[in-house]
Amino acid sequence: MSGPTLEVREVAPSRCNTPLAVFFGVEEEAARVPDGLELPRRALKDFAGKFRSMQLLYSDHRSGPERVLFLGLGKREKVGAEEVRRAAALAHARAREVKVSEYTVFVDEDLQDRLGVRTTAVALAEGTVLASYRIEMYRSTSGRDEAPAVKKVTLVPGGASAAFRRAVEFGERVAACQNYARDLANRPANEKTPIVLAAEAKKIAAQTKARCRIFTEVQARRLGMGAFLGVARGSMEPPRLIVLRAPGRRRGRVCIVGKGITFDSGGISLKPAKGMEEMKYDMSGGAAILGTFRALPALGTLPFEVIGIVPATENLPGGRAQKPGDLVRAYNGKTIEVLNTDAEGRLILADALSYAAKEFAPDAIVDLATLTGAAIVALGHEASGILGNDAALIRELREAGEATGERVWELPLWEEHREQMKGEVADLRNINSPNQGGGTIAGAAFLSNFVEGRPWAHVDIAGTAWGGRDRDYYKRGASGVGVRFLVEFLRARAEEKRSPAPIPPPRGRRGASRSKK
Ligand code: BES
Ligand code: MN
Ligand code: ZN
Repeated sequence: MSGPTLEVREVAPSRCNTPLAVFFGVEEEAARVPDGLELPRRALKDFAGKFRSMQLLYSDHRSGPERVLFLGLGKREKVGAEEVRRAAALAHARAREVKVSEYTVFVDEDLQDRLGVRTTAVALAEGTVLASYRIEMYRSTSGRDEAPAVKKVTLVPGGASAAFRRAVEFGERVAACQNYARDLANRPANEKTPIVLAAEAKKIAAQTKARCRIFTEVQARRLGMGAFLGVARGSMEPPRLIVLRAPGRRRGRVCIVGKGITFDSGGISLKPAKGMEEMKYDMSGGAAILGTFRALPALGTLPFEVIGIVPATENLPGGRAQKPGDLVRAYNGKTIEVLNTDAEGRLILADALSYAAKEFAPDAIVDLATLTGAAIVALGHEASGILGNDAALIRELREAGEATGERVWELPLWEEHREQMKGEVADLRNINSPNQGGGTIAGAAFLSNFVEGRPWAHVDIAGTAWGGRDRDYYKRGASGVGVRFLVEFLRARAEEKRSPAPIPPPRGRRGASRSKK
């Protein structure tokens, strides 16, 4: 899987001998034919700059662009990163339709000034690279009826190119890592067993500065991960616990944890047959962690260590599978009644979270999981659910969601909810009773027992990892949600730790006080 090469170059439209030049237009402002381009005066008569509208023209000139595409961004005050991302994706789609192997996008200077160079350039790169994604084909005749891929996209900044170029490189890298996460989640379960995911993690470690440790079933048993291994019992495919560590400049630590169920049949509490094939995407949380680690070099060395944990197993109803009513003991010693084997995500995360909390004592834990169908009922496909025990951490994550278009929406997590998860004969039960409702909250309430009081947030991506509406850069299948979101969360957090320059203590009282953060 490789998208087009992105290039940043300063060039005047009239001197650009490209098969396709793309210009953006804004609603209620007459689209300007760029200087030096000779197009019929009436060419833009019907182009009003409406969001996603397009006007393609052919030039008669010997030099300069062969084709010119005007693309609407909508009302100027409404244009944000998401609009730019989508416009970039539409440009890519149009370029494919007219079968050009390269094209050039000219960035509007006003737009760039308004949105900021970085935001504009990152969104353009992301939209282009995400739009170029194609689901891996296993057909023996694959590719025959496909339009040829775009090989190169040139981006022309609306000003000086240095900062623009850096931002394009960043956006390109992160988007490629999101495409990687999509590939993993779209891949059939027989092609991405826990062992395969572990091999992917090792590959990522080898390509980056991260270290990787893989725990086998025997090692997980020695650690006391009874909840994780209870789920794995139903499958012949050996489970793996993946731990990635990217060193930081200072002492702080952030743990990111992802659910890695490579196929969820429900286990003995078997799911209905209809749509079960989609449950290959039940490792999307894990895919987001792997994608994020792949993207980390783009952030440089962070002021804190990043630890990624992915418990990976299938959830199948094999002959040795755990049964409703079984009791398991998690890594932190808490006992759990498994009342429904289909509520398996929270079981494997119980061990992964308590391992993260106890082993690394992190300043923050964020887990991503396709945990509950109820998240789709509550929020649909356009927002992930977020719940946790730390308002400041949730705020940071909400901001990362807004900035990337991978939005999260908070649901409550109260003591009453935690009460519902208390067991009859064990400390906990893995489901609440059906009349209590609030399935997404119940899942989070269960997980809250395994974070040992550390600042923690749980992101339920059941709705956002698959099945969203067309966003031009995303059409169907796995969305790769979580990669841009986590990268932005880490980037902003690092900035926060770096930027507010420490105010020097007043003379004579050196070292008397130290700020906490
Ligand atoms: N992986 C599923 C959740 C899910 C369902 C994700 C549909 C995406 C689409 C999870 O393991 C599960 O089965 N959850 C159960 C929990 C229930 C048994 C309390 C669910 O949502 O039905
Ligand atoms: Mn399940
Ligand atoms: Zn599941």
